[in-house]
Amino acid sequence: MIRGPVFAANWKMNHTSRDAKTFMRTFLVQYARRPDRTVIFFPPALTLASVADALKGRQDILLGVQNIHWEAKGAFTGEQSAEMAKEAGATFVLIGHSERRHVFGERDEETQKKCAAALRAGITPLLCVGEKLEERERGETDAVVLRQLRAGTAALDPAAIGSMIIAYEPVWAIGTGKTAQPEDASAVHSVIRRELAVLAGDRTKETPILYGGSANAGNAAALISAENVDGLLVGGASLEPEVWASIART
Ligand code: PGA
Repeated sequence: MIRGPVFAANWKMNHTSRDAKTFMRTFLVQYARRPDRTVIFFPPALTLASVADALKGRQDILLGVQNIHWEAKGAFTGEQSAEMAKEAGATFVLIGHSERRHVFGERDEETQKKCAAALRAGITPLLCVGEKLEERERGETDAVVLRQLRAGTAALDPAAIGSMIIAYEPVWAIGTGKTAQPEDASAVHSVIRRELAVLAGDRTKETPILYGGSANAGNAAALISAENVDGLLVGGASLEPEVWASIART
């Protein structure tokens, strides 16, 4: 159940099971239960069990995986299904993260199949969209974001679209220390919000639209105060427990 702003930690390929235990010992002391917000961790799949174990008794903190395959099972070496993620304790999955798209060649059609597979398994897709620097410079930001949003949600029924989370993550801001200005993020979030209403009507009024890309303890407050910015998806700044706790308390 999602409440208030969403603070999502994308650990990418960082933190072993042992690291995660150490992290959680500090984090859980520094982040007391807050009913007015939602905190989600996306650890590496092999670290998930250790995080789930450390979070026993803290049902306020939720878990997700960073990727799934769209098939339920079969000969797909190296992959994991939505069902497997769910059984391991994940209730969310990142789909279409820019590193999946641009490092691993994931295409729009695959993001759609993955969103559909997640929804079938009862996991909430967190669909990431965002333009590259050259696309922004060519004035194509809205077009790219809309293309990715429409492709990821194609053929899903409106209720399903209404249950998703969207993250706007400009590629040029990820891991680069260059953050979008709150008003720039807000402008793109408004484009996303309008398109969600076209795709699925009123039920998307509350759809969380997160910002991601070099969010940190210094800029988190300004970003989440911007209109239509409903939370943050944080990579680098989520890896240190003290820093991440202070962002989650924003
Ligand atoms: P960053 O990553 O916070 O390190 O820029 C964000 C993300 O990729 O989700």
